[in-house]
Amino acid sequence: MSEVKKPVFQPNAEFSKTARVKNMSEYQALQDEAINDYEGFWKRFAEEKINWIEPFTTTLDESKFPFVKWFDGGKLNVTTQCIDRHLDTRGDKTAIIFEGDRGDTQTITYSELSKNVNKFANLLKEDFGVKKGDRVVIYMPMIPEVAYAMLACARIGAIHSIVFGGFSAEALKDRIIDADAKVVITADGAFRKNKPYMLKTVVDAALEGDTPVKKVLVIERNKEEITWVKGRDFSYAELIKDKSEKCEAEIMDSEDPLFLLYTSGSTGKPKGVQHNTAGYILWAQMTMEWVFDVKENDTYWCTADVGWITGHTYIVYGPLAMGATTVMFEGVPTYPDAGRPWKMVQEHKITQFYTAPTAIRVLHKMGEDEPKKYDLSSLKVLGTVGEPIDPPAWKWYYEEVGNSKCSIVDTYWQTETGGHIISPLPGATPIKPGCATLPVPGIIAEILDPVTGKKVGLGESGYMCITRPWPSMIRGVWGDEERFVKSYFSDVKKDGKAVYFTGDGAKYDEDGYITITGRTDDVINVSGHRMGTAEVEAAINKDNNVAEVAVVGKPHEIKGEGIFAYIVLKSSVENEDAERKSINSIIKKEIGSIALCDDIVFAPGLPKTRSGKIMRRILRSIAKGEAITQDISTLEDPSIVAKIEAMVNG
Ligand code: WTA
Repeated sequence: MSEVKKPVFQPNAEFSKTARVKNMSEYQALQDEAINDYEGFWKRFAEEKINWIEPFTTTLDESKFPFVKWFDGGKLNVTTQCIDRHLDTRGDKTAIIFEGDRGDTQTITYSELSKNVNKFANLLKEDFGVKKGDRVVIYMPMIPEVAYAMLACARIGAIHSIVFGGFSAEALKDRIIDADAKVVITADGAFRKNKPYMLKTVVDAALEGDTPVKKVLVIERNKEEITWVKGRDFSYAELIKDKSEKCEAEIMDSEDPLFLLYTSGSTGKPKGVQHNTAGYILWAQMTMEWVFDVKENDTYWCTADVGWITGHTYIVYGPLAMGATTVMFEGVPTYPDAGRPWKMVQEHKITQFYTAPTAIRVLHKMGEDEPKKYDLSSLKVLGTVGEPIDPPAWKWYYEEVGNSKCSIVDTYWQTETGGHIISPLPGATPIKPGCATLPVPGIIAEILDPVTGKKVGLGESGYMCITRPWPSMIRGVWGDEERFVKSYFSDVKKDGKAVYFTGDGAKYDEDGYITITGRTDDVINVSGHRMGTAEVEAAINKDNNVAEVAVVGKPHEIKGEGIFAYIVLKSSVENEDAERKSINSIIKKEIGSIALCDDIVFAPGLPKTRSGKIMRRILRSIAKGEAITQDISTLEDPSIVAKIEAMVNG
């Protein structure tokens, strides 16, 4: 590609010397290899990187696209890749460094990890009767046992489905039922800001009434008083005591499911995104190597929660697959003060640090000078994920945290992509603030015009698509084939053939770099967490006073986007603030605190077309305080717009 224009930051020359991909010609050579011989490229890496129990016979089978098969005929187990194969050479190497909220730490070597996972797997098999293909829901805090739980499931071929600990009982119940899970693994609770918080109580509430769950395993972390349901709830400490440290790994096919992870889409019902075995683990490992360039003696820290895809791929599966040392943190980045992460970087000599722009904005705002107080010289690569990063936050991260010597990898990807798809490579790619830059080698991603299906030109916007199936691609929406096809493969066609559409808009700049411009559907990105507007609306609709509701995203200084709700009440209420509180408490009960509305406006009506469709674009403009430029003459009642505008913007 031609020389990249300013403002641009070149990779650190010293770092590039030993990086896996050292410059743009090496990057281009890899990408050319993938473009010229797509299957050959992936065959080469799958053979090189994976410890196969039996080799695969076909690299890619697209005959039933979008239902594709990668590495068919191959047999493997993800835990052999993540644990057993390291035991000879890295048995005493630290696999996980855990740091608790209160500063307590624990290190777990690869050989200890192996024992813990095998014992856990034996427990699930022997005491709970968990078999290959069974679904196990994990609702846990950030403690090492959550990694053991995930890997124990993988060891015996059970499919885990982690539900983020911030989700409410109702949300947990919906996910348990959708996955038809018979086991839940949880903890009494954990610690946040030096205070215990509870999880088991939420599980108890979720399991009220009819559910498929027969057994609950409880890890005791904060040792708070909890209720034990006889015959259903069991103590991990008790059961694990007499388990064997050996457990044969179940022999899995390349395309056997590994896990489900529920995520928001444009309907009210979250989708169980399914990832399968071989393709997922291959890409988790390759992106760890390329995008973070983690080396044997590095200590890598991703601050995500395992309840999200980032925690799956880049705290547990990716780092362990490559035999790295991964840090797990129970607490919050601003406790006891906004220097906490930097103190941890200093103490653990962190080399790669990966977090969300929301966290960077908070740390910047609350502790602009904190990085100066610590020795951050161990850092080599800084990463961001989950939402666009604004230039001021980027600049502070680059200059103050990275001392203007670390590459920032702005990684763009999704639950559905399993791993990074667009990202700089730290030793090769010249970077620009707020720009995800280029496809990771092997990913054929293009910004397409949704109407013509043609690639848009430089300086133009379109839909972010992936035009060839890739190994860690979503394999299905649990129990709903039609929704899988409709959600991802029905919006954009290239040369008459459906391609994967991410749901995001994007733009090429004058250098052909990709900038993600945000969702094109009704998904809001709150602090890097995906929330479907329909999900929030369904929760609000449960309030008896609510006649109609529409929610939209509104830019928020810290969270990126906040939730703004327009509500039409059945009849006016005496105390509007009390009604707002009641609506937010329903959201908290139905979804969790992450979906609380920042703004609730009681509107006289909603702007609708004559066919009854709510014009969200107008509502978004009003929430942002923008002038309405859309044609409103086609609305059923155009006067409603001015009325709402007057209420919101005065
Ligand atoms: C957004 C998180 C801009 C995007 C891994 C995507 C980003 C959604 C970036 C996926 C980025 C993620 N720049 N936007 N670097 N990374 N997004 O499934 O809208 O929780 O579709 O996966 O986050 O969110 P998810």
